[in-house]
Amino acid sequence: MAEDRQAGLLCGIEFVTGSDSREPAPELAARALARAALGVRATPGGQIIRLAPPFVIDEAGAARRHREVGPGHQRGMPMRPCPAPGSFLRPGGATEQQKSHQALRELAAGMLEHGRAYPRTDFDRGKVSITDSLRLGDTVLLWATVPGQPERLAFLAGRWQQGRLVPASTATAMLSLAGRAYWHTAAGGTVSWHGPRGRLWLVEKVSGTATNDVVRVQLGDAPAMLKAYRLIGDGWAEHRILTAAARSQLAPRVLAVIGYSHAGGTVQAPLALVTEALTGQTLDVLLRRSLERAWQTGRSELSDTDRALLGRVSQAVRAWHGSPLPPHRAARQPLATRLPEVLADIGAVRRFLGLTAEGHRLLDLAASRAATLCASGDLGTGPAHGDLHLSHVLVDGSQIGFVDPAASAGLSASAPAPLEDFAALRRAVECMCLDVHVTERAAGWLAGKADPGRTRRGVSLALQAAAWADPVGPGRDLWAPLIHDSQSAAAARIADEWCANVGATLAGGDPGPAADLLYLARLMHDLRYHTERARTYHAGLAWWHLSRLLMPGDGGAAERTAVPRGGQIGEYH
Ligand SMILES: Nc1ncnc2c1ncn2[C@@H]1O[C@H](COP(=O)(O)OP(=O)(O)OP(=O)(O)O)[C@@H](O)[C@H]1O
Ligand SMILES: [Mg+2]
Repeated sequence: MAEDRQAGLLCGIEFVTGSDSREPAPELAARALARAALGVRATPGGQIIRLAPPFVIDEAGAARRHREVGPGHQRGMPMRPCPAPGSFLRPGGATEQQKSHQALRELAAGMLEHGRAYPRTDFDRGKVSITDSLRLGDTVLLWATVPGQPERLAFLAGRWQQGRLVPASTATAMLSLAGRAYWHTAAGGTVSWHGPRGRLWLVEKVSGTATNDVVRVQLGDAPAMLKAYRLIGDGWAEHRILTAAARSQLAPRVLAVIGYSHAGGTVQAPLALVTEALTGQTLDVLLRRSLERAWQTGRSELSDTDRALLGRVSQAVRAWHGSPLPPHRAARQPLATRLPEVLADIGAVRRFLGLTAEGHRLLDLAASRAATLCASGDLGTGPAHGDLHLSHVLVDGSQIGFVDPAASAGLSASAPAPLEDFAALRRAVECMCLDVHVTERAAGWLAGKADPGRTRRGVSLALQAAAWADPVGPGRDLWAPLIHDSQSAAAARIADEWCANVGATLAGGDPGPAADLLYLARLMHDLRYHTERARTYHAGLAWWHLSRLLMPGDGGAAERTAVPRGGQIGEYH
């Protein structure tokens, strides 16, 4: 018996042979059926038998059945789409078929396990199941259930290489889809191309994160970006927001959508979006130049050019806020409505890390600061980008564009104000600034230590190892000397002032308690995000800023003691 699945009072039991190959076994199901009581049917295909009470069952009978079936089933696992027998055919005999299905399952399990698709799921490899697949030459697109979240489908890709299936970039694997309007999948679903037909080819890979895979492409004559979502359904929000924002000229236009619909019509979602490629440079590149100039000249004031640039970015953020993203209704809400989210992030950080006493004290301070700020007024709401960091802002001369708006970007009446976006940018600037500072100090420090590949990554790893897996013991912290040695003190002061100038120019005017609360919320969000993903270096940057915010003038002692030690973190790798 491979699996039992339930939706409400309807229950299915699947019979297979071979614990790995999971070949459908209608003959076994038929034997079970022959001995079963009334109310049992086989589904088409024969390997699943279906149990359901009579539809005229009364409430007392239903309650009794629930008690008998037990609490695990009361949650009501959704029925998963069940591929027809033999739907994962590779040309060749039965053995080849079995090998193929097994390879698909192993590939999916391996990819999920390595955290590329679902970093936070603690799961059992054996529970990964493939619900659909599409072969495109040597490439295979796969749909799999994500353990722990059976209602969500993960979307993965693999490639046959010398008889073995190896992971492939999901975005790259889809390049041949532009040639046809429809493709039929193994389980009777459809992959469809909505956009101009023609050649779509790869220019370069851009990024691969836990949630998306992004490549730069050329669609006919148009330079474009293709973004494939790792979880089916994730693309809806971005599609809606980009479509709504099209007239504002602040976001790239959607050129094509690759959609998926399952045979039963139960799943319909974009697998990928192809959007116009914005020209210009990301804001981090431009700001980094400005920071380096500040260090060279010893002056933290912004040049006229920098101020003009930040002014344009600020205006564009406000224009996005003022743009008619439906169903936009500017409103106000009490600041206190934001408190639960901040407290939830604080709680998550406490759960994920075994903190030192100082770490807990800092989080206590954060909670009480958030509560105080919340009591001080209300907050204007309306469309916001929702995930504004520096590489989501593209600058081309006087033209500013935003990519990758988040699901919260103004699609509900209670969406956050543009202050949310300014808080996110302030955080991004601070984070970049400390990152560059630490990296430069570390590069200098490593120079004497025969480290030929002094790449940024190498430096990050060195810092990570130093700060989190300190072999010498909890009294030693390599961050502090990196930031606080005498040479570094002046650079740190200039960086701090430069950051403050950038933040003030972006947001303009007096920030007030709402801006402070949103900044604190963003900082806690970062801390939670990086802590949960065990990205210890970036979590470290957030601890640093948190302690500076809440314990100013502590001479750095707070930062050193507040950063959690190694040991605990390893459990989450
Ligand atoms: N339409 C576009 N034009 C130009 N550059 C783009 C475009 N879309 C994305 N990019 C660049 O590619 C990067 C990754 O794209 P995007 O942010 O959409 O994906 P992501 O996987 O969410 O990345 P992350 O999680 O790191 O933000 C962006 O930060 C941006 O610098
Ligand atoms: Mg992004």
